[in-house]
Order: sequence, then C-alpha cells, then structure tokens
Amino acid sequence: MPLGKVLLSAEQIASRVGELGLRIRRDYEDQPLTIVAILQGAIVFLGELLKHLGAGVTVELIEASSYGTATASGGQVTLRRYGRLDVRDRDVLLVDDIADTGRTLAAVARQLEAMGARSVRTCVLLDKPSRREVDVELSYRGFEIDDVFVVGFGLDHAGRYRTLPYIACLDEPARKE
Ligand code: IMP
Ligand code: MG
Repeated sequence: MPLGKVLLSAEQIASRVGELGLRIRRDYEDQPLTIVAILQGAIVFLGELLKHLGAGVTVELIEASSYGTATASGGQVTLRRYGRLDVRDRDVLLVDDIADTGRTLAAVARQLEAMGARSVRTCVLLDKPSRREVDVELSYRGFEIDDVFVVGFGLDHAGRYRTLPYIACLDEPARKE
C-alpha cells in the first residue's frame, strides 16, 4: 500500500510529546513511577517521552498483539513477556502508540491490576475514538485522529514504515470494479 499524506510532522509530535511529558512529571512529582510500554509500536513514542520524565522512572517492556485483518485489529489480544514484571504496589503508566478498539490497553491494564499494581494510568500518542469497542480511560493522549490507518513514529503496516520520523496515512489501493 502506498504512503499517503503526512498527518503529523516530526516537529508537531515532538512538541506534543513534550507537553505530555511535562504533565506526567507534574502529576507524579517525586512518586516512583513504573512505565510499562507495549512492544513494538510504542518504542519510538516511549523514547521521545522518556526524555521528559526525569531520572526516577523505571521502564518495563511487554508484548501484546491483536489479530485481525492487516489494517484492523481483531478481538483477541495475546500478551507476552510478563515473566519478569513485578508491579506489586507500583504506580504504573501504561504506554502504547495508539488506542484503536481499546482492547489491547484494556487487556493489559486488567492484567497489571491483577498483578497488584497500586494504580494504572494509560498514555497513548494517538487516539481513534470512532473505532472504540471497549471502554478504556485514556489518562494522557497526544492526538485524536479520524478512522484512517496510519504509519510512522513506531507504527507499522506489516512490519514496515516504523522508522519514519513522522506519521502518515496509508492509502488503500483503488479497487477495481
Ligand atoms: P486496539 O487493541 O484495537 O486498540 O489496537 C491497538 C493496536 O493496534 C495498537 O497498539 C497498534 O499496534 C495497532 N493499530 C491500531 N491502529 C493502527 C494504525 O492506524 N496503524 C498502525 N497500527 C495500528
Ligand atoms: Mg501495538
């Protein structure tokens, strides 16, 4: 699928992530904070966000995938890499690239609560509210976008485009009648 128009430039993203970082830092002040980021989509957003969070933050990475068609996530969420994770009595900030149906965030948040986290908040770079199927509270959110499939800044399509420094739409190929 060809790359479409640029939705968010590298500068727009950096500036907004800086604002989110400042808010998070103010909200947690000197409380120890554990970031749990969801591989692989969150990696670039996480790196940018961490620049603003100060030295007292712990970072854990987990993996989650939902299966569906190439550009729409499905109902089933599979979670991996929980083995080492210890979030008992910790304040956790769950970081992901995008809230689409909301299933991934809801599943991971539920799991973290079951593992004894003291609090779980969520932080996403992008939000597609029109696609939501599961009610999930977004504590920190970068940008609200329409129902378009986007790539770049960590977001991929079939493993490609993650390394773009900006976010662009992916154009569906014109259908033959
Ligand atoms: P949810 O569980 O439906 O909210 O799906 C969230 C996951 O689907 C995200 O973590 C992304 O990995 C993926 N996803 C959803 N929308 C997009 C998109 O527009 N581009 C790339 N990945 C997406
Ligand atoms: Mg993801």
